[in-house]
Amino acid sequence: MDRKEFLHLFGLGAAGLLASACLGSCGNSSDPVPAAANVDFTVDLTAASSANLHNAAVGYLYNAERTVIVAKTADGRYVAFQAPCPHEGVTVTFSPNQARFVCPRHNAVFGADGAVLSGPAPRALKQYTVTQTGSTLRITG
Ligand code: FES
Repeated sequence: MDRKEFLHLFGLGAAGLLASACLGSCGNSSDPVPAAANVDFTVDLTAASSANLHNAAVGYLYNAERTVIVAKTADGRYVAFQAPCPHEGVTVTFSPNQARFVCPRHNAVFGADGAVLSGPAPRALKQYTVTQTGSTLRITG
């Protein structure tokens, strides 16, 4: 391989490397706070730590990592969504009376289905699957 061939190959290699690096991160500018993946935990509804979930004035709790918020809707269903706001990652809360998730930082509001109702959040909250078996909730997704 002569010098000209080497420079040609290196040039293409560097361009390819830059392109693949950009594909991996440049396209995520609209989603700076990706939701947690491989979520799998349980909630014992009879445990003292679940008291807020049953409290009509609160109606929610977080997992240990605060990556998921589990809420009890007014009709008694349990739902789970990503807790960090998709805008800048501040932990959202749940308003059971209004059936809405709210971010205290810039006031993004999400419906009980996680959809953006108002505010700067670039997308809906990711929803996780809640499976109830007796007094145990399993949250996965
Ligand atoms: S961090 Fe939630 S609206 Fe900005």
